[in-house]
Amino acid sequence: MSVTTSLEIKITQTQNSKLDTFNQNELAFGKVFSDHMFVADFVNGKWQDLRIEPFADLVMSPANSMIHYGQSIFEGLKAYKGINGEVLTFRPEMNAARMNESAIRMCMAELPQDIFMEGLKALLTIDKDWIPSVPGSSLYIRPFMFAMDNVLGVRPSESYRFMIIASPSGAYYSEPVRVKIENHFSRACAGGTGAAKAAGNYAAALYPSKLAKEQGFHQLIWTDAKEHKYIEEAGTMNVMFMLDGKLVTSPLTATILPGVTRDSVLKLVASWGYEVEERRLSVDELIEGAKSGKLTEAFGVGTAATIAQISAIGYEDEIFELPAVESREVSPRIFQFMEDVKRGKIADEFGWIMEI
Ligand code: COI
Repeated sequence: MSVTTSLEIKITQTQNSKLDTFNQNELAFGKVFSDHMFVADFVNGKWQDLRIEPFADLVMSPANSMIHYGQSIFEGLKAYKGINGEVLTFRPEMNAARMNESAIRMCMAELPQDIFMEGLKALLTIDKDWIPSVPGSSLYIRPFMFAMDNVLGVRPSESYRFMIIASPSGAYYSEPVRVKIENHFSRACAGGTGAAKAAGNYAAALYPSKLAKEQGFHQLIWTDAKEHKYIEEAGTMNVMFMLDGKLVTSPLTATILPGVTRDSVLKLVASWGYEVEERRLSVDELIEGAKSGKLTEAFGVGTAATIAQISAIGYEDEIFELPAVESREVSPRIFQFMEDVKRGKIADEFGWIMEI
């Protein structure tokens, strides 16, 4: 069978659905996968062989160049069940566009936007029953692309595979997070790959994150690689602060991932009449704000993380406990708005929702 969207996508349906084995009430993040996956191959300079197949392990050569040299990029978005059972996604065209920015930086093949969008639609159509409906849950969708050449020479691969898999998931963070301001290791530097959603960026963050976890933190806040003086982002999300009544976040430089949630929150909060400042924020100013009480809210924003409250910030040998989450005004309001708009409970005034 094949579905005809505007592109020809061959469909092979699973004969062994796992749908009745997944328990909506015990959802972790990214551990269970839906029945199917979307696949497309870039061979001989052309994207081809678009297909939906049963979710299965990959077979690849030990000489696959992605394994050795890391040409691997990914995206993250979510699908929700609307109040009338419709399938809703949030700004997927931004993920398609960002994937190509990452592809350019990592010297990989660009993917026509219609393959991304039609692949997403085909997968969500066949696996729509995997979208969980318990509060706070969603179907997390992971589009990704990697090199497929089998060659050990260091050069850009000439063949690639693009795939989309889906995972019914609960919250990424189940409690407010304690973060450490990192002032030794770096995630990204000017001229590096920090603005790309490249797998290697996450690998490089694992060791510093492990050290922070051993010290009792959930996450790091990265600082600039040159001086460790300015706040950048956290490992799994952009970070924002309510400082002296204004929303402050790092500007989009080459070391910041241009988050879809980041962009949405900035537009939303500005529409509520708050002053929004995309500017360099020094660690000194942030710590001073924590001491003086000007820092009233700190939170992460990301697709997986949604709006993740930050309860404490560690810096050097001190820990600054921030105002109780219950006392915060802006971030809980953002969280509620975003949840409601994504689930079709309120009007989509910004035109962010795409129904499948
Ligand atoms: C996302 O928010 O979708 C991400 O890709 C972050 C990831 C580290 C879970």
